[in-house]
Formats: sequence, C-alpha cells, structure tokens
Amino acid sequence: MGHFYETIPPNIYEWILEQKMLFVSTAPLAASGHVNVSPKGGQYFGLIDDKTFWYHDLTGSGCETISHLKENGRITVMFAGFVGAPRIVRLWGHGRVIERESAEFNAFVTANDVKTIPATRSIILVDVHQVGSSCGYSVPFYDFKDYRTTLNEVFEKKKKAYETGRSKEDMPRYWAYKNAWSIDGLPGMTKGLETGAKESVEPITKMIGPWAPAAPFGPKSFKLSNQLRYQLTKLDSTRVQLKSVLLMVVVAFVVGVVLAAYGPALVEAQRERLEGLLM
Ligand SMILES: Cc1cc2nc3c(=O)[nH]c(=O)nc-3n(C[C@H](O)[C@H](O)[C@H](O)COP(=O)(O)O)c2cc1C
Repeated sequence: MGHFYETIPPNIYEWILEQKMLFVSTAPLAASGHVNVSPKGGQYFGLIDDKTFWYHDLTGSGCETISHLKENGRITVMFAGFVGAPRIVRLWGHGRVIERESAEFNAFVTANDVKTIPATRSIILVDVHQVGSSCGYSVPFYDFKDYRTTLNEVFEKKKKAYETGRSKEDMPRYWAYKNAWSIDGLPGMTKGLETGAKESVEPITKMIGPWAPAAPFGPKSFKLSNQLRYQLTKLDSTRVQLKSVLLMVVVAFVVGVVLAAYGPALVEAQRERLEGLLM
C-alpha cells in the first residue's frame, strides 16, 4: 500500500504545500532519552526543491526538536490528510537548526521571502533522503476553520512589553528559561544558553517525579555532571574562549617539561655555586 521515493514527487509536492499543519518527530541518541513529537507548520513552512523542506520554528514551552537536531540531526516530518483524498506523507531526513539572530538566518529569510513574527526562534532545514506515502484510510475528516492566532498574540504582547521598558520580557531571557535545555538535558538554543549564563537565568525544571531526568541543568544543578556541563557551556557561551584555556594548558605543559628537564641541573649548579662561596 505504501510508496517510497527518494525525492518528493510533483503531486505530493503540491499536496504538502496545501497542508495546514504537520508533525515532527526526533529523538536523542541515549537509550533512556525521550522521543519527541511536536506540532509545527501552520502558515510557516515550505519546500525549496524536491528534497529540501523547511519550517519556521516557533518559540514554545519546549525545545526538544532543536536539541535533538543539534545532537544527531535525525528527523521525520509527517503530514496527514484531514480534508480531501486520504493520504499520509512522511519525510525522513537530516535536519539543521538555523537560529534567529544569526547571519545564516537573515540570509535564509531574505532569500526565501520568509516573513518572521516575534515568536520565530529558528528555521529548521531538512535534507530529505526518503519520502513515504501511505493510504491514510483511517484519518478522520476535519474541516479547516482558521489558523489559531494565540501563540502569535502571546509573543506580540511580550514584544510590546519589552519595547515599553520591561527589559525582562526579552525573548533571549524566555529562551534561557524554557528553550535552553531539552527534557533530557541536551543543550538547546544557543542564544538561550548564552543569555542564561550571562544573566544567571535558572532554566525551568520540566519533567517531574522519580522517572524524570536529573534536573535542573543550570546554575543550581545539584548533579555533578549537570553542573560541569553547565559550567562548560557557560565557558563556551560567554566566550571565555576554550582556546585560551587550551593555550594555558599547553604553556603550563611546556613550562613543566622545561623545568623537569633543566630544573635539577639548575638547582645543582646553584648548590655548587653556594658551596663554593661558603668554603
Ligand atoms: C499548529 C501548531 C501548534 C502548536 N502548539 C503548541 C503548543 O500547544 N504548545 C507549545 O509550547 N508550542 C506549540 N507550538 C509551537 C511549537 O510546536 C514550538 O516550536 C514548541 O515549543 C515545541 O518545540 P519543540 O518541538 O522543539 O519541543 C505550536 C506550533 C504550531 C505550528
């Protein structure tokens, strides 16, 4: 019943562009990590060609997709035909995060004429290596009424609050609070991590109960590995360059080797000189 393709065939290409929403699924590599599925799309997705899909990633309560893509890139995009002929389409591929405020993001939105909104936090670009279509015979019918505007309004309001002087309402602080770490503690938005480190924003603890991964991951983390990871992220993100630390280690090593090689001879020479003076 199912059909597989290496690229998106023209009829599916057109059908994808008519859809009103989609689902993305990603997973961390760790066997204990949590598999994610998120709603995406709305008016914010498109195709560049028959093997390149993109969507406009909106700020929300989580950052699972971003974290998983940064770790391993695996992603499956799914569309379901709620109106018209039955059909389910899956795009399997490798996804990349292009974060807002980066030069690549600006170039992408300009080149592809993408209109951003205050909630926009990244573009996810997917290199599709396999397309699957299946019957969709059991997908229920739903008539499309309208796009829901609540998410956009929430972040429009936040933007206005920020512009009228409430400095803590800025998006990077929100990203530091909610979009800096995945549920399992994988790093999420770079800007969120940087802002969290710079402004000491304690990230939200997401899962609860005995099965929840050990959190928090930020400055108040009580778990040594989390604390170490946070400090390393902070080092990196606050641009106390890891390069400088490595350079110091190399210099210390060289000085150590020189001292070990010539130190005893120098001490001996001094001792002999002193003995000569005292005699
Ligand atoms: C149709 C649609 C519905 C959405 N519903 C929610 C929602 O209920 N809660 C939320 O936090 N984000 C919602 N979002 C926003 C995104 O899913 C958002 O990117 C979210 O933070 C999940 O990110 P993640 O997949 O990286 O964890 C929605 C977006 C779209 C396009």
